[in-house]
Amino acid sequence: MSQKTVLTGDRPTGRLHLGHLVGSIQNRIKLQNEADKAFYMIADVQALTDNADNPLKVRSNVLEVALDNLACGVDPTKTTMFIQSQIPEIAELTIFFLNLVTLARLKRNPTVKDEMKQKGFGEDVPAGFLIYPVSQAADILFCKANIVPVGEDQKPMIEQTNEIVDDFNRIYGQTFDHVKHLVGDVGRLVGTDGNAKMSKSLNNCIYLSDSNEVIEEKVMQMYTDPTHIHVEDPGKVEGNAVFAYLDVFDPDTKGVAELKAQYEKGGLGDVVLKKRLVGVLHDVINPIRERREYLAQDPKKIMQILKEGTEEARRVAAKTLAEVKEAIKIHYF
Ligand code: TRP
Repeated sequence: MSQKTVLTGDRPTGRLHLGHLVGSIQNRIKLQNEADKAFYMIADVQALTDNADNPLKVRSNVLEVALDNLACGVDPTKTTMFIQSQIPEIAELTIFFLNLVTLARLKRNPTVKDEMKQKGFGEDVPAGFLIYPVSQAADILFCKANIVPVGEDQKPMIEQTNEIVDDFNRIYGQTFDHVKHLVGDVGRLVGTDGNAKMSKSLNNCIYLSDSNEVIEEKVMQMYTDPTHIHVEDPGKVEGNAVFAYLDVFDPDTKGVAELKAQYEKGGLGDVVLKKRLVGVLHDVINPIRERREYLAQDPKKIMQILKEGTEEARRVAAKTLAEVKEAIKIHYF
Protein backbone atom coordinates (compact mmCIF):
# COMPACT_ATOMS: atom_id res chain seq x y z
CA MET A 1 0.00 0.00 0.00
CA SER A 2 1.82 3.12 -1.16
CA GLN A 3 -0.54 6.04 -0.49
CA LYS A 4 -2.53 5.99 2.71
CA THR A 5 -5.89 7.64 2.05
CA VAL A 6 -8.45 7.66 4.81
CA LEU A 7 -12.16 8.31 4.38
CA THR A 8 -14.89 8.16 6.94
CA GLY A 9 -18.25 9.77 7.53
CA ASP A 10 -21.42 10.16 9.53
CA ARG A 11 -25.05 10.42 8.60
CA PRO A 12 -26.39 13.77 9.77
CA THR A 13 -29.43 12.43 11.57
CA GLY A 14 -28.58 13.50 15.10
CA ARG A 15 -25.80 14.44 17.44
CA LEU A 16 -22.98 11.97 17.90
CA HIS A 17 -22.53 9.86 21.03
CA LEU A 18 -19.90 7.97 23.01
CA GLY A 19 -20.28 4.96 20.70
CA HIS A 20 -19.12 7.12 17.79
CA LEU A 21 -16.24 8.47 19.85
CA VAL A 22 -14.68 5.11 20.68
CA GLY A 23 -15.88 3.30 17.54
CA SER A 24 -14.47 5.69 14.97
CA ILE A 25 -13.81 9.32 15.93
CA GLN A 26 -10.71 8.49 18.01
CA ASN A 27 -9.31 6.62 15.02
CA ARG A 28 -10.10 9.52 12.71
CA ILE A 29 -8.07 11.83 14.89
CA LYS A 30 -5.14 9.45 15.08
CA LEU A 31 -5.18 8.68 11.36
CA GLN A 32 -5.34 12.28 10.18
CA ASN A 33 -1.76 12.58 11.44
CA GLU A 34 -0.55 9.36 9.84
CA ALA A 35 -2.33 9.35 6.49
CA ASP A 36 -1.17 10.99 3.27
CA LYS A 37 -4.71 12.27 2.81
CA ALA A 38 -7.75 12.20 5.08
CA PHE A 39 -11.40 12.86 4.20
CA TYR A 40 -14.40 13.26 6.43
CA MET A 41 -17.82 13.14 4.81
CA ILE A 42 -21.16 14.31 6.09
CA ALA A 43 -23.37 11.73 4.43
CA ASP A 44 -26.54 13.73 3.89
CA VAL A 45 -27.54 11.75 0.79
CA GLN A 46 -27.32 8.55 2.79
CA ALA A 47 -29.29 10.15 5.62
CA LEU A 48 -32.07 10.93 3.14
CA THR A 49 -32.42 7.25 2.17
CA ASP A 50 -34.57 6.71 5.22
CA ASN A 51 -35.46 10.34 5.93
CA ALA A 52 -36.74 11.41 2.53
CA ASP A 53 -39.75 13.04 4.15
CA ASN A 54 -37.69 14.92 6.70
CA PRO A 55 -35.15 17.07 4.85
CA LEU A 56 -35.00 19.67 7.60
CA LYS A 57 -33.81 17.09 10.10
CA VAL A 58 -30.97 16.14 7.77
CA ARG A 59 -30.09 19.74 6.96
CA SER A 60 -29.97 20.90 10.56
CA ASN A 61 -27.78 17.99 11.63
CA VAL A 62 -25.08 18.75 9.08
CA LEU A 63 -23.76 21.46 11.39
CA GLU A 64 -24.25 19.28 14.48
CA VAL A 65 -22.10 16.39 13.28
CA ALA A 66 -19.47 18.81 11.97
CA LEU A 67 -19.34 20.41 15.42
CA ASP A 68 -19.10 17.02 17.14
CA ASN A 69 -16.14 16.00 15.02
CA LEU A 70 -14.33 19.32 15.32
CA ALA A 71 -14.89 19.37 19.07
CA CYS A 72 -13.34 15.91 19.40
CA GLY A 73 -10.26 16.99 17.48
CA VAL A 74 -10.85 16.38 13.79
CA ASP A 75 -8.64 19.11 12.35
CA PRO A 76 -9.76 20.73 9.09
CA THR A 77 -6.16 21.59 8.21
CA LYS A 78 -5.43 17.86 8.18
CA THR A 79 -8.80 16.38 7.21
CA THR A 80 -10.82 17.48 4.19
CA MET A 81 -14.34 17.84 5.58
CA PHE A 82 -17.11 17.89 2.99
CA ILE A 83 -20.81 17.34 2.30
CA GLN A 84 -21.74 14.27 0.26
CA SER A 85 -24.63 15.79 -1.71
CA GLN A 86 -22.37 18.46 -3.15
CA ILE A 87 -20.20 15.90 -4.93
CA PRO A 88 -22.33 14.79 -7.92
CA GLU A 89 -19.53 12.44 -9.01
CA ILE A 90 -20.43 10.19 -6.07
CA ALA A 91 -23.95 9.80 -7.45
CA GLU A 92 -22.54 9.04 -10.90
CA LEU A 93 -20.18 6.44 -9.52
CA THR A 94 -23.06 4.85 -7.63
CA ILE A 95 -24.97 4.36 -10.89
CA PHE A 96 -22.03 2.58 -12.50
CA PHE A 97 -21.45 0.39 -9.44
CA LEU A 98 -25.12 -0.62 -9.27
CA ASN A 99 -24.63 -2.69 -12.43
CA LEU A 100 -22.11 -4.83 -10.56
CA VAL A 101 -24.39 -5.71 -7.65
CA THR A 102 -27.40 -8.04 -7.58
CA LEU A 103 -30.63 -7.53 -5.70
CA ALA A 104 -30.01 -10.80 -3.83
CA ARG A 105 -26.62 -9.49 -2.65
CA LEU A 106 -28.15 -6.23 -1.46
CA LYS A 107 -30.74 -8.09 0.58
CA ARG A 108 -28.03 -10.17 2.25
CA ASN A 109 -26.11 -7.24 3.77
CA PRO A 110 -26.46 -7.95 7.51
CA THR A 111 -26.41 -4.30 8.64
CA VAL A 112 -29.05 -3.33 6.09
CA LYS A 113 -31.08 -6.39 7.13
CA ASP A 114 -30.94 -5.33 10.80
CA GLU A 115 -31.89 -1.76 9.98
CA MET A 116 -34.76 -2.89 7.76
CA LYS A 117 -36.13 -5.03 10.56
CA GLN A 118 -35.73 -2.20 13.06
CA LYS A 119 -37.55 0.23 10.79
CA GLY A 120 -40.21 -2.32 9.83
CA PHE A 121 -39.64 -1.83 6.10
CA GLY A 122 -40.20 -5.38 4.78
CA GLU A 123 -40.71 -5.40 1.00
CA ASP A 124 -41.68 -1.74 1.15
CA VAL A 125 -38.09 -0.70 1.69
CA PRO A 126 -37.17 2.46 -0.25
CA ALA A 127 -34.96 1.38 -3.15
CA GLY A 128 -32.47 4.09 -2.22
CA PHE A 129 -32.15 2.63 1.26
CA LEU A 130 -31.52 -0.89 0.02
CA ILE A 131 -28.73 0.29 -2.24
CA TYR A 132 -27.03 2.63 0.20
CA PRO A 133 -24.08 0.25 0.65
CA VAL A 134 -23.35 0.73 -3.06
CA SER A 135 -23.51 4.47 -2.66
CA GLN A 136 -21.20 4.05 0.33
CA ALA A 137 -18.74 2.18 -1.90
CA ALA A 138 -18.81 5.26 -4.14
CA ASP A 139 -18.24 7.49 -1.08
CA ILE A 140 -15.10 5.54 -0.36
CA LEU A 141 -13.79 5.04 -3.88
CA PHE A 142 -14.36 8.48 -5.39
CA CYS A 143 -11.17 9.56 -3.62
CA LYS A 144 -9.53 6.12 -3.81
CA ALA A 145 -9.53 5.77 -0.05
CA ASN A 146 -7.97 2.56 1.22
CA ILE A 147 -8.55 2.93 4.96
CA VAL A 148 -12.00 3.43 6.47
CA PRO A 149 -12.19 3.96 10.24
CA VAL A 150 -15.77 3.18 11.23
CA GLY A 151 -17.70 1.20 13.82
CA GLU A 152 -18.03 -2.57 13.83
CA ASP A 153 -21.51 -2.39 12.22
CA GLN A 154 -20.00 -0.92 9.07
CA LYS A 155 -17.90 -3.99 8.27
CA PRO A 156 -20.45 -5.37 5.78
CA MET A 157 -20.23 -2.10 3.84
CA ILE A 158 -16.48 -2.51 3.43
CA GLU A 159 -16.91 -6.13 2.34
CA GLN A 160 -19.40 -5.05 -0.28
CA THR A 161 -17.07 -2.26 -1.39
CA ASN A 162 -14.27 -4.75 -1.92
CA GLU A 163 -16.53 -6.99 -4.01
CA ILE A 164 -17.32 -3.99 -6.18
CA VAL A 165 -13.61 -3.20 -6.46
CA ASP A 166 -12.91 -6.77 -7.65
CA ASP A 167 -15.73 -6.76 -10.20
CA PHE A 168 -14.89 -3.31 -11.48
CA ASN A 169 -11.21 -4.15 -11.94
CA ARG A 170 -11.98 -7.49 -13.58
CA ILE A 171 -14.40 -6.02 -16.10
CA TYR A 172 -12.91 -2.59 -16.80
CA GLY A 173 -9.26 -2.99 -15.86
CA GLN A 174 -7.29 -2.21 -12.70
CA THR A 175 -8.70 1.05 -11.30
CA PHE A 176 -9.33 0.69 -7.54
CA ASP A 177 -7.45 -0.92 -4.65
CA HIS A 178 -8.93 -2.93 -1.83
CA VAL A 179 -10.20 -1.03 1.19
CA LYS A 180 -9.31 -1.78 4.78
CA HIS A 181 -11.78 -1.45 7.61
CA LEU A 182 -10.38 -0.06 10.84
CA VAL A 183 -12.41 -0.44 14.01
CA GLY A 184 -11.60 1.47 17.19
CA ASP A 185 -10.15 -0.29 20.25
CA VAL A 186 -13.72 -0.71 21.40
CA GLY A 187 -15.55 -2.19 18.45
CA ARG A 188 -18.99 -1.60 19.85
CA LEU A 189 -20.05 0.27 22.95
CA VAL A 190 -23.10 -1.12 24.75
CA GLY A 191 -26.09 1.15 25.27
CA THR A 192 -27.05 2.54 28.67
CA ASP A 193 -29.83 -0.10 28.71
CA GLY A 194 -27.30 -2.93 28.29
CA ASN A 195 -28.29 -3.44 24.66
CA ALA A 196 -25.37 -4.58 22.49
CA LYS A 197 -25.27 -1.31 20.58
CA MET A 198 -25.51 2.36 21.52
CA SER A 199 -27.94 3.74 18.99
CA LYS A 200 -30.10 6.80 18.65
CA SER A 201 -33.09 4.76 17.54
CA LEU A 202 -32.81 2.60 20.68
CA ASN A 203 -32.75 5.70 22.84
CA ASN A 204 -29.82 4.41 24.90
CA CYS A 205 -27.13 6.97 24.13
CA ILE A 206 -24.92 9.38 25.99
CA TYR A 207 -24.22 12.25 23.63
CA LEU A 208 -20.96 14.15 23.30
CA SER A 209 -22.99 17.31 23.90
CA ASP A 210 -24.86 16.06 27.00
CA SER A 211 -24.72 18.32 30.07
CA ASN A 212 -23.32 17.06 33.37
CA GLU A 213 -26.85 16.76 34.73
CA VAL A 214 -28.07 14.70 31.80
CA ILE A 215 -25.02 12.43 32.02
CA GLU A 216 -25.71 11.87 35.71
CA GLU A 217 -29.37 11.10 35.05
CA LYS A 218 -28.54 8.60 32.33
CA VAL A 219 -25.86 6.85 34.37
CA MET A 220 -28.13 6.59 37.41
CA GLN A 221 -30.67 4.72 35.25
CA MET A 222 -28.10 2.53 33.62
CA TYR A 223 -28.54 -1.23 33.35
CA THR A 224 -26.44 -3.16 35.89
CA ASP A 225 -27.36 -6.60 37.22
CA PRO A 226 -31.10 -6.96 37.87
CA THR A 227 -30.45 -9.71 40.46
CA HIS A 228 -28.15 -7.45 42.48
CA ILE A 229 -30.78 -6.05 44.82
CA HIS A 230 -29.10 -5.57 48.20
CA VAL A 231 -25.64 -4.12 48.65
CA GLU A 232 -24.46 -7.36 50.27
CA ASP A 233 -25.63 -9.49 47.32
CA PRO A 234 -22.97 -10.72 44.93
CA GLY A 235 -23.33 -8.97 41.58
CA LYS A 236 -22.52 -9.84 37.99
CA VAL A 237 -19.81 -7.89 36.15
CA GLU A 238 -20.42 -9.50 32.80
CA GLY A 239 -23.24 -7.82 30.90
CA ASN A 240 -23.20 -4.98 33.43
CA ALA A 241 -23.25 -1.75 31.44
CA VAL A 242 -21.60 0.32 34.19
CA PHE A 243 -18.54 -1.94 34.22
CA ALA A 244 -18.51 -2.00 30.42
CA TYR A 245 -18.19 1.80 30.44
CA LEU A 246 -15.63 1.84 33.25
CA ASP A 247 -13.55 -0.63 31.24
CA VAL A 248 -13.56 1.75 28.30
CA PHE A 249 -13.31 5.16 29.95
CA ASP A 250 -11.82 4.84 33.44
CA PRO A 251 -8.05 5.39 33.23
CA ASP A 252 -7.55 3.67 36.61
CA THR A 253 -7.71 0.06 35.39
CA LYS A 254 -6.34 -1.31 38.64
CA GLY A 255 -9.05 0.46 40.61
CA VAL A 256 -11.71 -0.91 38.28
CA ALA A 257 -10.35 -4.46 38.69
CA GLU A 258 -10.62 -4.11 42.47
CA LEU A 259 -14.19 -2.85 42.19
CA LYS A 260 -15.11 -5.80 40.01
CA ALA A 261 -13.79 -8.25 42.59
CA GLN A 262 -15.67 -6.48 45.34
CA TYR A 263 -18.87 -6.36 43.30
CA GLU A 264 -18.74 -10.08 42.55
CA LYS A 265 -18.13 -10.89 46.17
CA GLY A 266 -20.94 -8.65 47.39
CA GLY A 267 -20.84 -5.46 49.43
CA LEU A 268 -20.57 -2.89 46.65
CA GLY A 269 -23.70 -0.94 45.81
CA ASP A 270 -24.70 0.19 42.33
CA VAL A 271 -24.93 3.82 43.40
CA VAL A 272 -21.27 3.99 44.47
CA LEU A 273 -20.27 2.46 41.18
CA LYS A 274 -22.46 4.77 39.16
CA LYS A 275 -21.15 7.86 40.93
CA ARG A 276 -17.66 6.84 39.94
CA LEU A 277 -18.77 6.47 36.32
CA VAL A 278 -20.47 9.87 36.38
CA GLY A 279 -17.14 11.46 37.33
CA VAL A 280 -15.25 9.51 34.70
CA LEU A 281 -17.70 10.51 31.96
CA HIS A 282 -17.66 14.14 33.03
CA ASP A 283 -13.89 14.09 32.51
CA VAL A 284 -14.32 12.62 29.02
CA ILE A 285 -17.22 14.78 27.82
CA ASN A 286 -16.67 18.15 29.51
CA PRO A 287 -13.73 19.27 27.36
CA ILE A 288 -15.53 18.10 24.20
CA ARG A 289 -18.76 19.86 25.12
CA GLU A 290 -16.95 23.06 26.03
CA ARG A 291 -15.07 23.13 22.73
CA ARG A 292 -18.31 22.35 20.96
CA GLU A 293 -20.10 25.26 22.61
CA TYR A 294 -17.26 27.58 21.69
CA LEU A 295 -17.25 26.47 18.04
CA ALA A 296 -21.05 26.63 17.82
CA GLN A 297 -20.90 30.39 18.38
CA ASP A 298 -19.64 30.86 14.83
CA PRO A 299 -21.65 28.55 12.53
CA LYS A 300 -20.61 30.57 9.47
CA LYS A 301 -17.02 29.61 10.08
CA ILE A 302 -17.97 25.92 10.24
CA MET A 303 -19.90 26.18 6.97
CA GLN A 304 -16.88 27.87 5.39
CA ILE A 305 -14.70 24.93 6.46
CA LEU A 306 -17.21 22.57 4.84
CA LYS A 307 -17.38 24.67 1.69
CA GLU A 308 -13.63 24.68 1.21
CA GLY A 309 -13.43 20.96 1.97
CA THR A 310 -16.19 20.26 -0.51
CA GLU A 311 -14.35 22.18 -3.25
CA GLU A 312 -11.22 20.15 -2.58
CA ALA A 313 -13.19 16.87 -2.62
CA ARG A 314 -14.76 17.81 -5.95
CA ARG A 315 -11.36 18.29 -7.55
CA VAL A 316 -10.37 14.80 -6.43
CA ALA A 317 -13.71 13.37 -7.58
CA ALA A 318 -13.42 14.85 -11.06
CA LYS A 319 -10.05 13.19 -11.53
CA THR A 320 -11.32 9.76 -10.48
CA LEU A 321 -14.46 10.03 -12.60
CA ALA A 322 -12.46 10.88 -15.72
CA GLU A 323 -10.45 7.73 -15.15
CA VAL A 324 -13.55 5.64 -14.45
CA LYS A 325 -15.35 6.85 -17.58
CA GLU A 326 -12.35 6.02 -19.67
CA ALA A 327 -12.23 2.54 -18.13
CA ILE A 328 -15.94 2.01 -18.88
CA LYS A 329 -15.36 3.39 -22.38
CA ILE A 330 -17.92 6.17 -22.02
CA HIS A 331 -15.48 8.98 -22.76
CA TYR A 332 -16.69 10.35 -26.06
CA PHE A 333 -15.63 13.92 -26.63
N1 TRP B 1 -22.90 4.47 7.04
C1 TRP B 1 -22.10 5.29 7.91
C2 TRP B 1 -22.83 5.35 9.28
O1 TRP B 1 -24.00 5.13 9.35
C3 TRP B 1 -21.89 6.68 7.40
C4 TRP B 1 -21.14 6.71 6.10
C5 TRP B 1 -21.62 7.12 4.89
C6 TRP B 1 -19.80 6.32 5.90
N2 TRP B 1 -20.68 6.99 3.94
C7 TRP B 1 -19.54 6.52 4.52
C8 TRP B 1 -18.80 5.82 6.72
C9 TRP B 1 -18.31 6.20 3.95
C10 TRP B 1 -17.57 5.50 6.15
C11 TRP B 1 -17.33 5.68 4.78
O2 TRP B 1 -22.18 5.64 10.26
